[in-house]
Amino acid sequence: MKKFLIAGNWKMNKTIAEAKEFAEAIKAKDLPNAKDVCILAPFTALSELGKALEGSGIGFGAQNVHFEQSGAFTGEVSVPMLKELGVGYCAVGHSERREYFAETDKTVNLKLKVLLEAGITPILCVGESLEVREQGSEQTFVAGQVVEDFEGIPAAEAAKVVIAYEPIWAIGTGKTATPEQAEDMCAFIRGVISGIYDNATGDSMLILYGGSMKASNAKELLEKPDINGGLIGGASLKVDDFASIATDAASL
Ligand code: PGA
Repeated sequence: MKKFLIAGNWKMNKTIAEAKEFAEAIKAKDLPNAKDVCILAPFTALSELGKALEGSGIGFGAQNVHFEQSGAFTGEVSVPMLKELGVGYCAVGHSERREYFAETDKTVNLKLKVLLEAGITPILCVGESLEVREQGSEQTFVAGQVVEDFEGIPAAEAAKVVIAYEPIWAIGTGKTATPEQAEDMCAFIRGVISGIYDNATGDSMLILYGGSMKASNAKELLEKPDINGGLIGGASLKVDDFASIATDAASL
């Protein structure tokens, strides 16, 4: 049976009160696959969200972390701080962080290493811009990201990373990749991982699709053999939509 992870990425949305309200409503949905579902929330909501989700099976995580353990990095949050909150997941290298906050493959690589060391599952985001896709260079571009991001990470650790393929042109635009485009790139990424490591590592890796995934198109994407779930932004803010996507995954 194919493994799934349905991850909500709230981005800079939801106060503590709103996060708690969402947690109560999603718990009431009694998702059959709650253990395959997680929510990436703003730092400020993580503590209360974690408490509210306790016992539900639904995981929670951060959207970013610094690669140093502590120090003079004003405004940043470290792995020990996340660990203390009991987070299970942390997004790394989201295209919005790469574009607006100068995230590079070098810092992504350092972040993956410190998260893996702490036992927090990284959700590594990769994906090309529209310009790169129009040039037909999307595979070269994404392979380059994957190779640099996994530099120096041994196979046993690499296997714990979740990769999210998020074409930038599909994020928040309502323009979803076709199931074929998403499947092609997820299969390609799996091949890149198999090439760096071995087939067992590539085969077992969870590779998600992200970019305008919503209740109306999730099933056709999730049905594809190399797509192990979704990283869902806009549609994760509404309980009914997010629960519908999770339920689709549970039915496959
Ligand atoms: P979207 O965002 O679902 O709103 O397109 C996805 C993401 O950026 O993770």
